[in-house]
Amino acid sequence: MTSISMTTKPLRPTLWIEQRQVFTWDQTRLPFEREVICLENSQDCARAIAGMQVRGAPLIGAVAALGMAMAIREALAKHPGCYREAGWLESLAKALLATRPTAVNLAWAVGQVSASVNAILQASTIDQEPPTEELKADRVAYSRPNRPGNAIADSMASALAEQAWQRALDLVDDDRNCNAAIGMQTQHVLLKHARGQTASRPLQILTHCNAGALATVDWGTATAGIYQLHAQGIALHVWVDETRPRNQGASLTAYELADAGIPHTVIADNAGGLLMMRGLVDAVMVGCDRVCANGDVVNKIGTYLKALAAKAHGIPFWVACPASSIDMSCPSGMDVNIEERSALELSQIRGLPVHPQQTLRQPILVKIMQEGQICYNPGFDITPAALVSGLITEHALINPFKLREAFA
Ligand code: MRU
Repeated sequence: MTSISMTTKPLRPTLWIEQRQVFTWDQTRLPFEREVICLENSQDCARAIAGMQVRGAPLIGAVAALGMAMAIREALAKHPGCYREAGWLESLAKALLATRPTAVNLAWAVGQVSASVNAILQASTIDQEPPTEELKADRVAYSRPNRPGNAIADSMASALAEQAWQRALDLVDDDRNCNAAIGMQTQHVLLKHARGQTASRPLQILTHCNAGALATVDWGTATAGIYQLHAQGIALHVWVDETRPRNQGASLTAYELADAGIPHTVIADNAGGLLMMRGLVDAVMVGCDRVCANGDVVNKIGTYLKALAAKAHGIPFWVACPASSIDMSCPSGMDVNIEERSALELSQIRGLPVHPQQTLRQPILVKIMQEGQICYNPGFDITPAALVSGLITEHALINPFKLREAFA
């Protein structure tokens, strides 16, 4: 993986492809350094997701799809006959699937790429079998060190690699289009249902974490309608939860809203309740990592508390939700594997030194608690369907209790 400083490149789209290499922002560097990472192979993709250089459910899905396509090409370049082995796609998917457990978009995207390759295999007459002696010999032959990069000799193998890549590219395009469509739906929803909105003051939206353009290929999910309304000249203002412990709100959402010139204010995570009580929030708009069959929403830790406060104050709580985030195979939020992250995310904080005598302009990590404190750091929480006013998908506004009917 290589890093390139790109201070003048527009922030959106947040992922682009040149000559089969994937470029995206290194989100661990923002907001202080605008650096692009180049993902050259499947290992780079898995590392970027695991290290949270790439984050946000839809972007994780897009990079996982591209990573899976790269893994397929890499495997077929080394062993052109490997597609004959039963379980070859599952074993290629393992490294990507092991990176982050909660956002369903990752497994969904990897599954989409695998399914498109399987469709070609099933349409052909190839039987998948355990490796034969002939295949093992073939592996040895194609493992010769001088064999050029990812060139594929076998025509079936090369068709499969191409199919995987094209499907991954489609998923990248779909994400952009899907979020633009979520934005259209959001515009109607916000203008119709936002509490207390009058022509005399801007529409006040509270958001948590970063479900913005940086979390997707473009537009964001929770921010798509915000970008679109702002472009139409509708006055709005966004309350941005800082989103401890990794501060995705303060570091990423605030950064991209500032980049787009959208009025916003960063607030401490615990401030939302007071703002709601004072009538300063018309609607809460968040993204999601997984929506379960019973309508439970899994999203960044802290979302649930905002939903409770919104319910108590009669404020609509909307979840922007691409269909790829809906997991009908998961009965409820209690069945989701909630990622438990390092205690260091709580005990240390990253930022630029502000001391006047400090000449270092690089971000540093500082400890914010005594050594040895025990910390517990779940990355996500579960908002029960009863607290969700609606799921804004690319197709329609869906009542979370009616998901089974919508997906029947
Ligand atoms: O841990 P992260 O930063 O990947 O968590 C991101 C979130 O929880 C987002 O709200 C969610 O993925 C929706 S992104 C459109």
